[in-house]
Amino acid sequence: MAAALEIADLSVVYGGANLALEGVTLDVPEGGFVALLGANGAGKSTTLKAISGLLRFENGQIRKGHIRYMGEDITRMPSHQLARRGILHVREGRFVFPSMSVEENLEAALFARGKRGPALAGDRYEEVFHYFPALRERRRSQAGYLSGGEQQMLAIGRALFAQPELLMVDEASLGLAPKIAAEIFAILKQINGERRLSILVVEQNVSLALKSAEYGYVLEAGQITEQGDSDTLMDRENLSRRYLGGARKDTEH
Ligand SMILES: Nc1ncnc2c1ncn2[C@@H]1O[C@H](COP(=O)(O)OP(=O)(O)OP(=O)(O)O)[C@@H](O)[C@H]1O
Ligand SMILES: [Mg+2]
Repeated sequence: MAAALEIADLSVVYGGANLALEGVTLDVPEGGFVALLGANGAGKSTTLKAISGLLRFENGQIRKGHIRYMGEDITRMPSHQLARRGILHVREGRFVFPSMSVEENLEAALFARGKRGPALAGDRYEEVFHYFPALRERRRSQAGYLSGGEQQMLAIGRALFAQPELLMVDEASLGLAPKIAAEIFAILKQINGERRLSILVVEQNVSLALKSAEYGYVLEAGQITEQGDSDTLMDRENLSRRYLGGARKDTEH
């Protein structure tokens, strides 16, 4: 399958001399579901920020390499322009507007695609609520009162509302009960299958991500050290122990 997203030899620095990413090369096929795995500080979020044009707000800099989307060089395209192209990034920490209702949070996504106002919104609500029925029941509740799982669903639902072509999700499972995290990954898989949009997830939970993704990359101290089909990676015994050190960040909160 043709690559929707192609990252070639990407290196990133923040301020000092250390490279946060060093020669990262990865592809997301059109309609594919890819997982980027790695421990704390490996450079997973940095990779997503580089793709979605957020690095300059973080004082990060692309030293070398290219990012292409559908054949077009997007390496230095600003984030609002990328969002208009349908490249949407659900950031780490399930960011929602706490004092706004679920519906208002969803509508905020229209700004991302440059379509102001509620035009066409009806069908989009149906689509989001089809995948996340829990949100339908809470549609008029303030987002700040939702459970952690529901807030994560809302953060993903908001991106979906903007009708993405490439959906990137940073640590969807963070701080959530295993059952809820599994549910969210199953929904992402369903969306990927039914909508044929391309998905790139970042995860510390290897087995969870590889159950939904077709292909995985392991990032270690800014470099890709391992990659393969999900089944192959899963079969590599002790992958999570070798690369990910076992401890999960969400236990620290
Ligand atoms: N804004 C920043 N300024 C300086 N250094 C940063 C910044 N953001 C990240 N870094 C550094 O870049 C490296 C990669 O960080 P990144 O956030 O991409 O890791 P990660 O794999 O997403 O980790 P985590 O699992 O903890 O979210 C780390 O060494 C981190 O300290
Ligand atoms: Mg991160």
